[in-house]
Amino acid sequence: MNKLITSLFLYSGLLISLLIPCSAVDTIAPNQGIKDGGDTIVSAAENFKLGFFSPGSSKSRYIGIWYNKISPFTVVWVANRETPLNDTSGELRVSQGGLQLLNRNNTVIWATNSSGSVSLVAQLLDTGNLVLRDHGISIWQSFDYPGDTLLPGMRIGIDLITGKDRRLTSWKSDVDPAAGPYALRVDPNGYPQLFETKDSGSPLRFGPWNGVMLNGMPDLGANLTQFVFNEKERYYEYNIANNSLVSRIHLNPDGTIQHLNWINGTQNWNVLSTATNDNCAPYSMCGPYGLCDINKAPGCTCLDGFEPRRPEEWNIADWLSGCQRIKPLACQHGYIFSNFTGLKFPNTNQSWYNQSMTLGECEAACSRNCSCTAYANSDISSGGSGCLLWFGDLMDIRTVDITQSLYIRMPASEFTSRPKQDSNNRKQMIIIVMSTLLGLILACLLILVAWRKKKRSKKTIIGRVPAHGEICTNENGKEDSELSSYSLTIIAKSTNNFCIDNKLGEGGFGPVYKGVLEDGQEIAVKRLSETSRQGIDEFKNEVKFIAKLQHRNLVRLLGYCIEGNERMLIYEYMANKSLDSFIFGSENSMFDWPHVFHIIHGIAQGLVYLHHDSRLRIIHRDLKASNILLDKDLNPKISDFGLARRFSGHETEANTNRVVGTYGYIPPEYALHGIFSVKSDVYSFGVLLLEIVSGKKNRGFSQDENNNTLIGHAWRLYNEGKSLELMNSSLGASCIESQVLRSIHIGLLCVQHHAEDRPTMSSVALMLGNENALPPPKQPAFFAEEEMPELRYISSVPTLDSVDDVTITLLQAR
Ligand SMILES: *[C@@H]1O[C@H](CO)[C@@H](O)[C@H](O)[C@H]1NC(C)=O
Ligand SMILES: *[C@@H]1O[C@H](CO)[C@@H](O)[C@H](O)[C@H]1NC(C)=O
Ligand SMILES: *[C@@H]1O[C@H](CO)[C@@H](O)[C@H](O)[C@H]1NC(C)=O
Ligand SMILES: *[C@@H]1O[C@H](CO)[C@@H](O)[C@H](O)[C@H]1NC(C)=O
Ligand SMILES: *[C@@H]1O[C@H](CO)[C@@H](O)[C@H](O)[C@H]1NC(C)=O
Ligand SMILES: *[C@@H]1O[C@H](CO)[C@@H](O)[C@H](O)[C@H]1NC(C)=O
Ligand SMILES: *[C@@H]1O[C@H](CO)[C@@H](O)[C@H](O)[C@H]1NC(C)=O
Ligand SMILES: *[C@@H]1O[C@H](CO)[C@@H](O)[C@H](O)[C@H]1NC(C)=O
Ligand SMILES: *[C@@H]1O[C@H](CO)[C@@H](O)[C@H](O)[C@H]1NC(C)=O
Ligand SMILES: *[C@@H]1O[C@H](CO)[C@@H](O)[C@H](O)[C@H]1NC(C)=O
Repeated sequence: MNKLITSLFLYSGLLISLLIPCSAVDTIAPNQGIKDGGDTIVSAAENFKLGFFSPGSSKSRYIGIWYNKISPFTVVWVANRETPLNDTSGELRVSQGGLQLLNRNNTVIWATNSSGSVSLVAQLLDTGNLVLRDHGISIWQSFDYPGDTLLPGMRIGIDLITGKDRRLTSWKSDVDPAAGPYALRVDPNGYPQLFETKDSGSPLRFGPWNGVMLNGMPDLGANLTQFVFNEKERYYEYNIANNSLVSRIHLNPDGTIQHLNWINGTQNWNVLSTATNDNCAPYSMCGPYGLCDINKAPGCTCLDGFEPRRPEEWNIADWLSGCQRIKPLACQHGYIFSNFTGLKFPNTNQSWYNQSMTLGECEAACSRNCSCTAYANSDISSGGSGCLLWFGDLMDIRTVDITQSLYIRMPASEFTSRPKQDSNNRKQMIIIVMSTLLGLILACLLILVAWRKKKRSKKTIIGRVPAHGEICTNENGKEDSELSSYSLTIIAKSTNNFCIDNKLGEGGFGPVYKGVLEDGQEIAVKRLSETSRQGIDEFKNEVKFIAKLQHRNLVRLLGYCIEGNERMLIYEYMANKSLDSFIFGSENSMFDWPHVFHIIHGIAQGLVYLHHDSRLRIIHRDLKASNILLDKDLNPKISDFGLARRFSGHETEANTNRVVGTYGYIPPEYALHGIFSVKSDVYSFGVLLLEIVSGKKNRGFSQDENNNTLIGHAWRLYNEGKSLELMNSSLGASCIESQVLRSIHIGLLCVQHHAEDRPTMSSVALMLGNENALPPPKQPAFFAEEEMPELRYISSVPTLDSVDDVTITLLQAR
């Protein structure tokens, strides 16, 4: 009996001690408060915490909500973002006047302005929402006042009854939560669309929700939202498929919008996607009926059936006036609707819509009104439904990677007046004659320009090269203030006169030396070969361009050196050299699986940035283990990016005669036909991934029984269900089996034979970051180089280290 009582007592004691800290801490009761200096409240499952904080180096004090269990301190909401406290005397109180933040003098400096009864209670929920309740009824919630972060369950958009407009606004800077110039909001006019706006400057239109994704921003749109509009509300709600994931959408102070995911394994925020902000992003870049295509140069063309409205402006890349119909449209003379697929829908802020009409009814509705220029299904989930009608000019169109169709009204004569074959022949004839003429004129012009450049550049060399021993100041001031020009004397001195002992290696574009500047800073100097034909100004422009590409997984460019025919790029120095010495070399054993996985992740993030997030789409074209450098913490950094562009003109996706790349890393369509695209980099990434996991080179790989490539070997093991055998045995102890298998699977998806089957780098990053099922890979391209006899080599630059690592430059067979 005694025993029972003691144990009961002990048990209830335990219960009480467990309960007390939990039961009270997620709420602030009436007439209670939390004071700066340690008081906080924590949501029931301990996901979020509310308290006082100072952002970064700032001394100001704010009331905010942040993730409780995530170690890089990540704030999701700030109450007094415009009215910081100057000292730690603040107190957040619940009174009949609502939630109030008081300073030392008990002056209210921030308030929810929602008065209620004596039973007001504030509670921090596990969603990160701070709710104020009166007798249990919510009268105010922080989710209605978003800051720069969208959490699952939050909405942006307009409540038509209260007029409340919920929008994300950026912080002024990382240390100042006050509202900055950028906002993410819903434009309720016409068919509601999501926009990113800036105080001044052109807005970024994300297009309408089509039931599956944001029509103009498919990358960011996936699984992003639920779109609701009715008489009461027009809003986008952020939802995620799996509530156990920690995700957020963040509007950075610089205006970039990112969808992020917390990866528990790496203890890092993984960027799932970034809102595209490339050259085609500014509103109506190409004017009415103009089509912006990021993969084409020049970026703007007219839609089929349209021609430039003002050719003289259009020809000097002034595209704002846009395009007009080649044949005028007269309804009574007959018309048809032409099917355009893969376009971002024109601005819908003047569109008419009906969500229950079918495509047929939609066409009929458009036909009935002569000023209707186009129609489309508004929702493409479940086979297509709903109707969207456009009136007037079609604005802000670009190509996007979606299969939604837009039907544009065209005069019937465009298609019926002449037999189709005939008109095509004639067109072709005209095109041939025109392009021959144009070619001749261009050639003449080029020769003239080149001649004048040569004369001028001779002069500039004398005029502009800095005096020996002096670092140039920049003429342009602010824009490239971080980019220095170094004199040859300084560089020669720092590298011990390009001493062979200082040589770090040789890449595709020239040898690389280690240098130490006088102030002790370590640098890597890339001495570019075969550049003498490029003028100084073009070189500088190119360097500025490369310097703008900044990402934690890209090697940073510090400056350049031009003197006579010498062109050099100065990079930050990477203590741990390149990845190949780790995966193929003696340092192999330093690696464990978490490091390997971290490196794979980093390379993928760097490529996502180059392909999708930088302002211009960059294809690396020579991605390989020796071009991945590692810093002292083994963070991977991609090097040599942007150079391929310099070495082969300015096209970003094209058919080129010169192939730059490295055996074992180039996909078949590139090696055989010279066609390169972002998918060529994806292929190289796949090869690299398999090399990293296996510790073996793709090129020169041989397996005892069959003289196979590494890819072939991986493919065979995959089909036999023995993928794990591919793994480098030294990883065995540290490996996480599911991650290894997943990596190999993703590697195989990247090296699939057909470029269109390969995933984009952003989906690769996505696949690496989650655990959803992957599609089965199709047959990879594992051709050996003997299979490409038709290639004719024009030059090859062997490296000092090994002949295996030859970077080739070859000419496509005619
Ligand atoms: C903090 O100090 C600044 C400048 O000294 C002043 O303008 C501001 O009103 C102060 N804020 C508060 C909450 O006292
Ligand atoms: C508080 O009141 C005192 C006296 O009126 C004044 O000097 C001081 O500036 C006030 N402090 C704040 C933070 O408002
Ligand atoms: C409360 O009202 C004041 C004065 O009208 C206003 O400046 C402040 O922004 C309001 N606070 C909130 C949270 O809406
Ligand atoms: C997106 O949503 C679909 C359906 O809800 C789900 O199958 C898929 O796994 C989700 N993808 C991500 C990345 O959450
Ligand atoms: C949700 O994610 C967690 C952790 O990543 C995983 O364990 C769980 O299986 C997922 N649930 C669903 C339904 O996908
Ligand atoms: C997250 O990782 C830590 C160790 O890094 C582990 O203790 C914890 O259980 C993990 N949480 C989840 C939800 O997987
Ligand atoms: C328009 O073209 C797309 C892609 O070619 C096709 O899927 C769609 O069915 C076409 N629409 C009609 C009405 O034929
Ligand atoms: C539609 O949007 C464009 C671009 O934001 C703007 O110039 C135009 O005035 C808007 N029209 C209407 C009717 O809202
Ligand atoms: C939308 O279309 C449906 C089907 O054609 C029709 O019944 C309905 O009245 C329309 N609604 C409006 C607001 O036009
Ligand atoms: C055609 O649509 C426009 C714009 O909605 C409208 O102003 C006009 O009255 C319509 N014309 C006819 C004949 O319905």
